[in-house]
Amino acid sequence: MEKTIDETKQGETLVIPQKKENTKKLFIESYGCSMNFSDSEIVASILQNEGFNTTQHLEEADLVLVNTCSIRDKAEQTVRKRLEKYNAVKRINPKMKVGVLGCMAERLKSKFLEEEKIVDLVVGPDAYKDLPNLIAEVDEGRDAINVILSKEETYGDISPVRLNSNGVTAFVSITRGCDNMCTFCVVPFTRGRERSRDPQSIIEEINDLWAKGYKEITLLGQNVDSYLWYGGGLKKDFEKASDFEKATATDFAKLLELCAKAQPKMRIRFSTSNPQDMHLEVIETMAKYDNICNHIHLPVQSGSNRILKAMNRLHTREEYFTLIDNIKKIIPGCAISQDMIAGFPTETEQDHQDTLSLMEYVKYNFGYMFTYSERPGTLAERKFEDDIPEATKSRRLSEIIALQLKHSEYRTRQFLNTTVEVLIEKESKKSNQQWSGRTQHNIVCVFPKADYKVGDFVNVNVTDCTKATLIGEAIGLSNNN
Ligand code: SAH
Ligand code: F3S
Repeated sequence: MEKTIDETKQGETLVIPQKKENTKKLFIESYGCSMNFSDSEIVASILQNEGFNTTQHLEEADLVLVNTCSIRDKAEQTVRKRLEKYNAVKRINPKMKVGVLGCMAERLKSKFLEEEKIVDLVVGPDAYKDLPNLIAEVDEGRDAINVILSKEETYGDISPVRLNSNGVTAFVSITRGCDNMCTFCVVPFTRGRERSRDPQSIIEEINDLWAKGYKEITLLGQNVDSYLWYGGGLKKDFEKASDFEKATATDFAKLLELCAKAQPKMRIRFSTSNPQDMHLEVIETMAKYDNICNHIHLPVQSGSNRILKAMNRLHTREEYFTLIDNIKKIIPGCAISQDMIAGFPTETEQDHQDTLSLMEYVKYNFGYMFTYSERPGTLAERKFEDDIPEATKSRRLSEIIALQLKHSEYRTRQFLNTTVEVLIEKESKKSNQQWSGRTQHNIVCVFPKADYKVGDFVNVNVTDCTKATLIGEAIGLSNNN
C-alpha cells in the first residue's frame, strides 16, 4: 500500500494510507438466490481493495466473475451458456480472465477447470477472502482453485459494495450454510455447515445503510429462524458452549428485535423461514414492532405427509396448519408466500391433491414453484429413483401455478379500496410517469409520480389491481418519513 505524507498541521506529520488507484475492471454477475447477489457485493468489496472497479460492460473487463447456482439442473445450464458467451468475448479480449464463484464452483471443484477451458479460477462460497492470492496465481499463468468450506467465515467484517442498487433496499446476510439436510437440496453440500454472524456487525451494517439513505433491509439466510449467536462457531456445536455463552446467546427473535429497535424507521424483512424452525417468539416479535414487515416466506414444498417425510422436512401438514393459524391469529392479514416442488420421487396423484388442498387452506399471497430436479450427491438422489415422468411433473406444476394465480388474485383484491403504505423503489417498468414500490406485505404497487421521489414512504389509495400488482393514487407522505 502506498503512503503519502500530509503536513497540513504544523509540527505534526500524519501518514495517511492511500488506497491503490483502481485501474482494473471487474465484471461480476450473479445467478440464483438472494444470498448469491449479496455475496457478490462482498466479493466486489474485497476486490475493490485490490484495485478493481466494477463495470457493466463485459467487453472491457479484465476479470469476469460469475456467481453460480446449483439448485436445479436448469440453473447450471444457464451458467454453462453464459460461459459460451464469455468465450466469444475472450476471442476479442484475450487478456480477460474468467472465474466461477458460488455453488457450482463448490459442487464441481476442479472438474470445472477440466470441463470448461475458459475458466481460470474456481472459488467456493467460503473462500472469497482468498481471491487476492488466487488472482495473483492466475496472473502468473496458473489456474487457481479454493473450495474449502469454513466453520467460522461469515464475512461479518466486510462492508459490501452495493451493486445495481436502487439506494433504497438492501440485503444483509445473517447466517451461512444450512444444517437441515432436506433430501432434495444441494445447498448443505455447496454452502457447508450452518454458522451465524455476530449481531453487533449486523446492527452496524444496518446503521450504516440507514445513514446512507436506505429504507428497507432483508435479513438473509438459508434458514434464518435457526440463527444463533453464542460468540461464534457452528450451530451444531452450541451444546458444547459454556453456561455463560448459552445464557447470553442471541436467537433469531432477539436479533429481529435488536434490528427493529436499532433503526425504528427502517423496514425489516427476512428470508427464508423453514417451518420446522419458526418459533412463536419470532411471530410475536413481528407483531410487536411496526417496522418489521408483515410477510413471511414459508416454503412448504409439498402438502403430503408422506412426501414431507421423504423430503426430510421435519413437520407434518397438520403442524404447518397450526403454524399458519398462529401467524394469522397473532398478525391478522400477514402475507404468506411459498416454495413448492412438483413431482418429487414416488409422488402420487393423491399426494399432489394434498398439495393443492394445503394451498386451498392457506391461500398464499404468492409463491415460487418448480418441478423436481434431481441433484447429484443429495440424499434423494441416493435413495430414490427420479420416477415421475417429466410430462406428469409439468402437468402437476401447471395445476399448482394455476391455483396460486387464483389465490394471488384473491389476496391482491383484498387491498382494493384500502390505503396502503408504499416505499418507492423505482420507476414503473410500464410507464415513466409512474412510481413502483412495495407494501409491507411485499405486494408491488404502482401510482402516478406527482412530486414524490424514490425512497419516500407514501400512502396510496388502491383503486384497481391486476393479479399481482396494486394500482392506485398517492394521497400524501406517510408519517414514517
Ligand atoms: N432456504 C433456501 C431454500 C433453498 S432453495 C432459501 O433461502 O431460499 C429455494 C427453493 O428451491 C426451495 O425452497 C425449493 O422449493 C427449491 N428447490 C431446492 N432444491 C430443489 C430441487 N432439487 N428441485 C426442485 N426444486 C428445488
Ligand atoms: Fe435446502 Fe432445506 Fe436448507 S431447502 S437450504 S436444506 S432448509
